[in-house]
Amino acid sequence: MKKIGFLGLGHMGGPMAANLVKAGYEVCAFDPAPAAQERARADGATVMTTAREAAVDRDVVITMLPDGKLVLDVYAELLPAAEPGTLFIDCSTIDVADAKAAAAQAEAVGHRPLDAPVSGGVAGATAGTLTFMVGGATADFAEAREVLEVMGGKVVHCGEAGVGQAAKICNNMLLGISMIGLSEALVLGERLGLSHQSFFDVVSTASGQSWALTSYCPVPGPVPASPANHDYQPGFATALMSKDLTLAANALRANGIDGRLGQLAAAIYERFNHTDVGRDFSAIITDIRDRSGEDTE
Ligand SMILES: NC(=O)c1ccc[n+]([C@@H]2O[C@H](COP(=O)([O-])OP(=O)(O)OC[C@H]3O[C@@H](n4cnc5c(N)ncnc54)[C@H](O)[C@@H]3O)[C@@H](O)[C@H]2O)c1
Repeated sequence: MKKIGFLGLGHMGGPMAANLVKAGYEVCAFDPAPAAQERARADGATVMTTAREAAVDRDVVITMLPDGKLVLDVYAELLPAAEPGTLFIDCSTIDVADAKAAAAQAEAVGHRPLDAPVSGGVAGATAGTLTFMVGGATADFAEAREVLEVMGGKVVHCGEAGVGQAAKICNNMLLGISMIGLSEALVLGERLGLSHQSFFDVVSTASGQSWALTSYCPVPGPVPASPANHDYQPGFATALMSKDLTLAANALRANGIDGRLGQLAAAIYERFNHTDVGRDFSAIITDIRDRSGEDTE
């Protein structure tokens, strides 16, 4: 059984580490937040007093941190402390360039890095049903699979270092764009006298169909489990969508892509995030409604 170090025991990392403990792994964990430490201890992890200690004498070191700068800072501390050949799996959502830099630094000192961002949110982390999008060497992916499958329902090897992060931002850019487009269409339908249910009945089986409509409908009624039915409690918080769209917009620019909708979606969610802290990203429809004046004809 592999010995695991786990750093970053927040909303996502906490339940992910708990699932590894439940599966019988010996988990040495670190997080500077006392509440996160307490929860991890209650879940059965051994809580270390420094990040470095959590990486010593481990087969696998997993990080689940807020951003790329922190991942690079933490790697600078951990990489020299770990046994050469340690499998370093970063599950945070970070810039593709940061993911590649982290992988290069790990490889330079003889470790085996993988970027493995996730989708599925806190519910997926708790249930152990996350989707992992993994970048890195095939042999390292094969070895990591057993550990990732404890925390996830689906584990996909997407390509070389950084390509797991690429899959994550491509998906979320598309989701952000499609939620805005769907919300504009719904508000237009409202203005033209089309009920939400009629809109749903037609579009869900027509060419405008999308996951945003059929699984996450941004108005109450047609999909009873969607956040719109619960005053837009997340779900997937606007702040996280804004973060992912900013990463996507940076990648569009860095790679010379004419990605006007991706850039616009990032700008729309950044502004919305400043005015509407804490709600689900599907609440963007309320913003579109608020910003739409009365009929001009
Ligand atoms: N929350 C979601 O629904 C969700 C879904 C998919 C992906 N993600 C991504 O997962 C990552 C984590 O998200 P989260 O919601 O768990 O964030 P979070 O803020 O709840 O947790 C981050 C944790 O990292 C800890 N931390 C900070 N510095 C540290 C250090 N030096 N060493 C160890 N731990 C440190 C913090 O104390 C905190 O507990 C982010 O990159 C996010 O974009 C989140």
